[in-house]
Amino acid sequence: MAYETLRMEVEERVAVLTIDRPEKRNALNATVRRELVEALDALAERDDVRVVVLTGAGDKAFVAGADIGEFAERTPLEQRAVLAGRRVHRELAAFPKPTVAMINGYALGGGCELALACDIRVAGRSAKLGQPEIRLGLLPGGGGTQRLPRLVGFGQAMRMVLTGDILDADEAARIGLVDLLVDDDALRATTLALARRLGAHSPVALRLAKDAVRAALETPLSAGLAHEQELFVTAFASEDRTEGVAAFLEKRDPEFRGR
Ligand code: COA
Repeated sequence: MAYETLRMEVEERVAVLTIDRPEKRNALNATVRRELVEALDALAERDDVRVVVLTGAGDKAFVAGADIGEFAERTPLEQRAVLAGRRVHRELAAFPKPTVAMINGYALGGGCELALACDIRVAGRSAKLGQPEIRLGLLPGGGGTQRLPRLVGFGQAMRMVLTGDILDADEAARIGLVDLLVDDDALRATTLALARRLGAHSPVALRLAKDAVRAALETPLSAGLAHEQELFVTAFASEDRTEGVAAFLEKRDPEFRGR
């Protein structure tokens, strides 16, 4: 399927989704949002894809936020209708396969929130991250007020949301907003190598493990532990578990089939 604002490449079980509006710093307009949701729907169904990497085109921006031009034209009722539809940040966070944000420049506002909705964030040293909505008389609307404190803690999240300050990649890594910090010229190779390592594992186990860790964001400890046990038993019942254990004992690489 051809997209207007996205590029999709699939290689070695990893799909790289590139938001492709570099002249607008990959800002999220209605077309990008719709196409991202469509692309995620398609990738969820593809057996040859086990991991998704999300990035921005060019060397300046991952995603510089919501398209501010669209804000200027929209009435509050129109904005309400937009928020009632399928939301890209929610769809990304709920995507069943592991997702990695490859942050290659500015990740601001809705762009920072896209990175927050991914499972792992890898950034080049020149990346810059922030939630500058407050400067526009707004607040984050793509999950930032909830996902940011869960990732970096209450105080750092408050500091970012209330000041609108933009952090360099070093500081973002120090507070836990970036999980892996690499030189710019190593960003792609390092991120793809990481994604391929995930993609070598059982798709069943990947899905269940992601579900289990994500539950930690939403549930009290006792409920989360009970959920983990259920998912563990489900993994135990999979053909991939039989194969993984057999391969270990036979000292060979496993061949996971996703069953
Ligand atoms: N929405 C719409 N257009 C945007 C945009 C956004 N969020 N971010 C950048 N652009 C556009 C600019 O308007 C400009 O368009 P033009 O060439 O037609 O004038 C183009 O992208 C390049 O931006 P520019 O500011 O010249 O690039 P830069 O590299 O000097 O600066 C940023 C990059 C990201 C620091 C700067 O563009 C910026 O601050 N953007 C807004 C970030 C923001 O507040 N995001 C949160 C939105 S809620």
